[in-house]
Amino acid sequence: MRIFSGIQPTGAKHLGNYAGGFRQYVESQERGDAFFCVVDLHSITVDYDPAGLRERTLSLAAMLFAAGLDPERSTVFVQSHVPAHAEAAWLLSAVTSYGQLGRMTQFKDKAAQRDFVPAGLFTYPLLMAGDILLYRTDAVPIGDDQRQHLELARDVAARFNARFGELFRVPEGIYPAVGARLMDLQEPTRKMSTTGGTPQGTVLLLDPPETIRRKIRSAVTDSGSEIRRGADKAGIANLIDIMSVATGEAPEWIERRYDGGGYGRFKRDVAEAVIALLEPFQAQYAEFRSDPGELQRLLAVGGEKARTASAPTRARMYELMGFVAPIGALKEPSKRNVQSIRNC
Ligand code: TRP
Repeated sequence: MRIFSGIQPTGAKHLGNYAGGFRQYVESQERGDAFFCVVDLHSITVDYDPAGLRERTLSLAAMLFAAGLDPERSTVFVQSHVPAHAEAAWLLSAVTSYGQLGRMTQFKDKAAQRDFVPAGLFTYPLLMAGDILLYRTDAVPIGDDQRQHLELARDVAARFNARFGELFRVPEGIYPAVGARLMDLQEPTRKMSTTGGTPQGTVLLLDPPETIRRKIRSAVTDSGSEIRRGADKAGIANLIDIMSVATGEAPEWIERRYDGGGYGRFKRDVAEAVIALLEPFQAQYAEFRSDPGELQRLLAVGGEKARTASAPTRARMYELMGFVAPIGALKEPSKRNVQSIRNC
């Protein structure tokens, strides 16, 4: 089974990214042939700082390896290292309508927030469709907020196949289980996020232990004292989910274990569990960052594997769409072709 997912090198990564993203990626590499792409081309669709992009890209790559993606088993690479992604996005624009792109809620939301709306914000789902379709992907582990974009990729694949000939596989999304979505510690009705949440309510993957303790200690709870999920208990429910992510224990067991335990002790234990989860991750991360040459080498290997894996689909797209193949692409050049090269 071919698996593909993309992660943007924007914003500091947090516990919510780990719970709903990295953790799934590591699990999915057991299930098949997995590709994980740091989608740097996507990250220029909103205002960004060119000087920071390089650092964020390398940092995210190091996090993916630190979380447990195995470069021997999975292909971890940077989108801009594989030019076929940008090409596929352009080619797929022929089978995608303006109206379809205009219906994307993420585009509408983000466009409403700014005066200058980059064209890339509008065509973004095409780049994403290209990412997925180039690898003839079966399954895409992805966040809930990306459902509409994945549906569009499926529509685009089907329209291409109908218009130009069977080429693409129509991919399925794999969405995080309930509970994998962590909420902001300060405002537990909003999801944990570096853009939409609060800084105090967001546990960053690179936060030092003291910061983690402070953030969890000051998490909003309720006026009761029972450690269980339920109406008006969004804060405690979220802490139970966090505990479950950190220890792998089912939420019901956590409720049972802390029955009558009190919020103070529970919060302390949640903080220590998160610290224990992140300690090896942070140590691995530091190791990858201490050797930039090795990190770049791993990404070069991933880029090469990705170029090789996507090359046949890329070539077939051009061919089915009626483009003249460049001479270098011919398997056995005819005498006349060779002659015409010599003559020029
Ligand atoms: N748009 C996705 C997000 O913001 C990132 C992404 C880009 C992606 N290309 C992808 C995800 C391909 C899955 C597959 O989260």
